[in-house]
Amino acid sequence: MTQFLRIWHPFTNAALDPAPIRVERAEGVWLYIKDGGKIIDAISSWWVNLHGHANPRIAGAIAEQARKMEHAIFAGFSHEPAEKLAEGLRKWLPPQLTQLFFSDDGSTAVEVALKISVQHFSNLGKPNKKEIVALEHGYHGDTAGAMSVSDDSPFTEPFRSMRYAVHRVPSPYLYRRPAGTTEEEYVEHCVRALANLLEEKSKTIACLILEPLVQGAGGMIVYPAEYLRKTRELCAKHDVLLIADEVMTGFGRTGKMFACDLAGVAPDLMCLSKGITGGFLPMGVTLCTDRVEVAFRSENRMHTFYHGHSYTANALACGAANASLQIFEDEPVFDRIAAIARVNEERLREFQKYSVVGETRQIGTVGAIELRAEDAGYLSAMRPKLYQFFLERGVLLRPLGNVVYVMPPYVISADELHRVYDVITEAVETVF
Ligand SMILES: Cc1ncc(COP(=O)(O)O)c(C=O)c1O
Repeated sequence: MTQFLRIWHPFTNAALDPAPIRVERAEGVWLYIKDGGKIIDAISSWWVNLHGHANPRIAGAIAEQARKMEHAIFAGFSHEPAEKLAEGLRKWLPPQLTQLFFSDDGSTAVEVALKISVQHFSNLGKPNKKEIVALEHGYHGDTAGAMSVSDDSPFTEPFRSMRYAVHRVPSPYLYRRPAGTTEEEYVEHCVRALANLLEEKSKTIACLILEPLVQGAGGMIVYPAEYLRKTRELCAKHDVLLIADEVMTGFGRTGKMFACDLAGVAPDLMCLSKGITGGFLPMGVTLCTDRVEVAFRSENRMHTFYHGHSYTANALACGAANASLQIFEDEPVFDRIAAIARVNEERLREFQKYSVVGETRQIGTVGAIELRAEDAGYLSAMRPKLYQFFLERGVLLRPLGNVVYVMPPYVISADELHRVYDVITEAVETVF
């Protein structure tokens, strides 16, 4: 009998889910599969791709870097692609963020932000200031710490014992606000809940982590900038570090380079990943202010941040990220983003007439439709049905339970994006 090593796919149940589709090649927004079929990647391959698959500029930059130097240890050493990336990012970031720490992906960028926050206060002689605040419906990754700050979900259920306790505050999920409450009142309620917690417990709280303006995996929950601004003020007032997890929202998704820019907010720490390399190679980055980092510059060796990954600041990933930033400089990327936002806005308006549609939400390139469901949530029976329906029509969309969303690479044409919405319309009209 032939023995083979079976590949175990993420977020996939081999007993229930269809067999994976083999992608032969990819270009622009298209995934080309066996026997000449092709699928529009309307979710940027888990929110990573910005400038199109197999983008020749990024592919070329990686090849060029690989011939020069693929990787070198980053403890005690540095290299030009990493330094160039720090310089390139600096231009786009709030000026307060002056320190950059590399890691491997979104989850590790979050782990680093949480650990820096806790050790910052420990180094300052405040070891009790170590607790963490996070939002309901938040998602920050699948490693143990990132899973702890993420809200309870089917993803975290088996790991209760591994997750550390956090203070959980309500998120301004306006669609789910109590009946009879206005949007403004609900935002105020959420702000007050945070204010009360910080007033009572700030001596033991190190940081608050949130996804700025959009809670992604929680259901593309778009919330008012006002909440983010008030959160910024409260954290500053109570000496609690604000961590903006821009892993999903970063690099143009919301219409500005970073969601924090839209709200005019500068966090104390920021996490980046996904789009940073244009979707070519994994990389995480955690940024922080001088004020946060200075606590680690010390005569005391125990104040060192003892954290690092083998592939920290991988030169090929840095090369890809530099090429992606160069595309932002040279090509009309923000015009492409604005064009996607216009189609999103126009097409989402049409969905409000369907009784199965609870709410539509939009911010920049992200468009979402929350469907009414008895079993609302990630495990909604709608999810596999819709996923299959879309695929059969040549569109890759992975609904978050009863929430269908679009987040395409920025090179999608208006016709291609209309095609995606046509298929969603067909689903809404025929599946339910
Ligand atoms: C806001 C946010 N943070 C962190 C992560 C984790 O990123 P990764 O999957 O690269 O570990 C994600 C992934 O979807 C995310 O959306």
